Amino acid sequence: MKRIILSLIVVYFGNISANDKTTNGNFLKADPSQCLAVPQNERLDCWPGSDGNQEKCESRGCCWSPPNSVRGLPNIPYCFYQPKAESYKFTNVSELPDGISAFLERSSKSPYPRDVSTIQLIVTYQSDSILRFKIIDPSNPRFESPFPEIDLPQPKTENPLYKFNIENDKQGFKIIRRSDDSVIFDASDLSNFIYSDQFLQITTKLPSTNIYGLGEERKRFRVSTDWKQITFFNHDAAPQDNVNIYGTHPFYLLVENSTNAHGVFLKNSNGLELVLQPTPALTYRAIGGILDFYVFLGPTPSDVLKQYQEVVGKPKMPPYWSLGFHLCRWGIIDLESTKKVLQRNLDAGIPIETQWNDLDYMEDHNDFTYNKSAFGGLPEFVQELHKQGRRYAILIDPGVSGSELPGSYPPYDRGVELDVFVKNSTGQIFIGKVWNSLTTVFPDFTHPNAYTYWKEMLKEFHDLVPFDGAWIDMNEPSNSEWPYGCPDSELENPPYRLNTDGGALHEKTFCMTAKQHLGVHYDIHNLYGISEANITSRALSEILGERSFIISRSTFSGQGRYGGHWGGDVYSTWDELRYSIPHLLDFSLFGMPLMGSDICGFNDNTTEPLCNRWMQLGAFYPFSRNHNSEKLMDQDPAAMGEQVIRSSIKALNIRYSLLPFLYTLFWHASKNGSTVARPLMVEFPDDPNTYDIDTAFLWGSALLIAPVLEDNPSSISVYLPKGRWYNFYDRKPLNSKGEYFEIAVDRETIPLFIRGGSIIPMQTPANTTEEVRKSDIKLLVALDEDGKASGNLYWDDGVSVDVGSDYTVLEFSAEGNKVDVTSSNLGRTPPPKISSIEVIGNGNQNMMADILGIDRYPVKVICGNPTQILYYITH
Ligand SMILES: *[C@@H]1O[C@H](CO)[C@@H](O)[C@H](O)[C@H]1NC(C)=O
Ligand SMILES: *[C@@H]1O[C@H](CO)[C@@H](O)[C@H](O)[C@H]1NC(C)=O
Ligand SMILES: *[C@@H]1O[C@H](CO)[C@@H](O)[C@H](O)[C@H]1NC(C)=O
Ligand SMILES: *[C@@H]1O[C@H](CO)[C@@H](O)[C@H](O)[C@H]1NC(C)=O
Ligand SMILES: *[C@@H]1O[C@H](CO)[C@@H](O)[C@H](O)[C@H]1NC(C)=O
Ligand SMILES: *[C@@H]1O[C@H](CO)[C@@H](O)[C@H](O)[C@H]1NC(C)=O
Ligand SMILES: *[C@@H]1O[C@H](CO)[C@@H](O)[C@H](O)[C@H]1NC(C)=O
Ligand SMILES: *[C@@H]1O[C@H](CO)[C@@H](O)[C@H](O)[C@H]1NC(C)=O
Repeated sequence: MKRIILSLIVVYFGNISANDKTTNGNFLKADPSQCLAVPQNERLDCWPGSDGNQEKCESRGCCWSPPNSVRGLPNIPYCFYQPKAESYKFTNVSELPDGISAFLERSSKSPYPRDVSTIQLIVTYQSDSILRFKIIDPSNPRFESPFPEIDLPQPKTENPLYKFNIENDKQGFKIIRRSDDSVIFDASDLSNFIYSDQFLQITTKLPSTNIYGLGEERKRFRVSTDWKQITFFNHDAAPQDNVNIYGTHPFYLLVENSTNAHGVFLKNSNGLELVLQPTPALTYRAIGGILDFYVFLGPTPSDVLKQYQEVVGKPKMPPYWSLGFHLCRWGIIDLESTKKVLQRNLDAGIPIETQWNDLDYMEDHNDFTYNKSAFGGLPEFVQELHKQGRRYAILIDPGVSGSELPGSYPPYDRGVELDVFVKNSTGQIFIGKVWNSLTTVFPDFTHPNAYTYWKEMLKEFHDLVPFDGAWIDMNEPSNSEWPYGCPDSELENPPYRLNTDGGALHEKTFCMTAKQHLGVHYDIHNLYGISEANITSRALSEILGERSFIISRSTFSGQGRYGGHWGGDVYSTWDELRYSIPHLLDFSLFGMPLMGSDICGFNDNTTEPLCNRWMQLGAFYPFSRNHNSEKLMDQDPAAMGEQVIRSSIKALNIRYSLLPFLYTLFWHASKNGSTVARPLMVEFPDDPNTYDIDTAFLWGSALLIAPVLEDNPSSISVYLPKGRWYNFYDRKPLNSKGEYFEIAVDRETIPLFIRGGSIIPMQTPANTTEEVRKSDIKLLVALDEDGKASGNLYWDDGVSVDVGSDYTVLEFSAEGNKVDVTSSNLGRTPPPKISSIEVIGNGNQNMMADILGIDRYPVKVICGNPTQILYYITH
């Protein structure tokens, strides 16, 4: 929702560099001629951080080559490893039935304290397309993250797509794609490999620069390899360039030159730093934990994403209603204003599904309370919404007030009783401050009692105010005061300092020495959000007896299985409108399809032209919510004037008519790890023209969304991959060779294209998703060049936690003069009847519809022209 303004200056930590803590003298001076031979793009940084100098550099046995004139290109390291610098070497290697176990030994000390001199590499051939390699300290267990919850079958391979080779006279290793010998993970040179207690580093050379993922950070979809550094340390900061923000997903998808794709996931919850350089190469640095990599061999991008989600978990099926349009803002200070804003939007014809309140509803900003004067009547209001078929969602902060009168605030008293609060290094409750008036204490969501505690709190509040969804905010975790300071320690002040926003690791969060059941905060900082999401999602399902809906600001790999995410505190600018697309697509790769940024922007005042375009694009975010910060102008669609209202209704009506299709895409995602908002690159990996596209995206494989990202151009250029497409609005065919089309645009329309070969199930838009669900199904059949098309529909009651066998899947196919509808499962809650079929692309005039094999319906043509024929089914 918002960022906390830093209200207390904390202890300043001096520039303690690694060098101060190590003994030198173990290094041979680098050989200058060897140093000269290292091309700039291949330099591996020997002194990450900004405090290097020649003496320090050479003390590490590294090459020193400062830029001689203008430092035009920052980030190129000038203290770098000489070729084949010594680090670890394999000492013995044993083949196991399902992999390899090997030991490596370090020949000289690394510059970081507490080197692990003997390490073990365990390679597991998990399946033909998934390989795992894990590097551990065999004599001392180190921290390993319990998230994502991984539940893989016993390893089993028949014909693995990869081989694992130990290379270079035992000085490194490679993972190779068998089919064409492409090197997927190239650690054949371990020169810069370090495995010390608080600094682990490994570099892989990459086979191409088509690399995606590695978030959360504000960036383009294809990640730059131009000395791009990405820091993972979950943090409450508005998205901006090169700043660590809310979530951690150390997963990438890479398309090789051959157009085969692979993926790599590092499972590690400690602070991380990644550097991409033009070699191309990727360096990982972790300040703790172990190196635990999963490699996915694809070979298509969709295969990679599916394999990744087999490991980290597939996304949760959202409740149907959560795909409606959501209205929210911070600074709606009472119930009257909430009602007024809702009503003016309903009056304007905006189909609001869910009304939200930000922390304004609380008493003194305390969780699980509501302001009885300003929000008196809230329970009745929520009941009224329910009667209208609408929903209500609330913000919940993780921290609760630590300063209420004893006996007056159960969230504190009960937490103490159950001993669930995070502790400080001396074992007392860790005290900080977020929104509460005096102090804040924080549930430890890894504590065995946390579930009981949190469910009780949610349930007691739900008994008062029957809310439907939870918005869990500030869970990086965000904190702005440390009344007792943070004790100096190697956790607070590790030998290597990550480039985190604000400097100190505890900046805007807990002390690194804070204790949780699972371990010290230093190790599990990045898990705070996911552990809260896990518990909130499960508890809410039990309370509601229905599928729960949550969105969480902080996220970690695998969090899609608990709920969704939103883009955080984005500014109301044209730039942010554009960045919201790669942000959304990144979360598609991460297996969190339920995502969208605050429509019209959160921070600063929006403008009419911006909000106009943002409402159009936002109607196609899988999670579609207009939300705004306090003390700003109103930006709900009705407040923005006629133009925005017209755009909003037009786009949202299309969204609502496509809900059965959107819901079906979520079903595929939840079963198979496919994407909902799909990057063009994922759908068309054989077409390199799609690799850089992040201004347009698809829903599934059938609908291309090409938003207008400026005020009022007369046309925009839209890339249509090879094949037949149809303009959604006039149904005109566009036959593409894989080229850009100049599409005329007006102010109220978002360009949309249907892909030939698709059959899309649609319904009639209405004011609520419940109403839409009652309307007849209409099939939109878009024929390809060969006159064929196919598609499907998934249907269930939209809310059950476990639908069992009570769901329906209809398969559609069209060819010649026939549209076939078959079913692979028929539930007790069947979808409404199919009452019309629209065929575009020279449909046959004498169409038969064979529906479920029950009957062959002759269908009546109700209108026809060369590209579009509409049939009415006479049941
Ligand atoms: C491999 O090396 C490790 C570490 O030096 C040692 O503990 C282990 O016994 C060795 N295994 C074999 C099979 O030699
Ligand atoms: C991939 O293609 C790029 C650009 O043509 C080329 O520079 C690079 O060497 C190729 N990579 C491999 C592994 O062949
Ligand atoms: C209740 O809301 C009103 C209106 O915003 C505000 O002035 C008052 O301080 C709130 N009371 C509490 C206890 O939060
Ligand atoms: C997720 O929450 C459930 C319910 O409390 C708990 O049993 C499980 O251990 C949690 N998962 C992890 C990885 O902590
Ligand atoms: C831990 O918190 C208590 C108060 O709850 C405080 O007295 C103590 O100094 C704190 N310890 C540290 C190390 O901050
Ligand atoms: C935003 O607009 C509101 C209402 O028009 C105005 O009071 C406020 O000063 C503006 N804020 C900024 C940051 O421009
Ligand atoms: C999942 O993928 C399999 C294999 O491609 C396919 O047969 C199945 O229909 C898919 N199921 C869903 C729900 O997408
Ligand atoms: C939606 O609500 C508006 C305003 O109440 C009303 O004019 C319109 O007819 C409703 N639309 C449908 C499809 O029910």
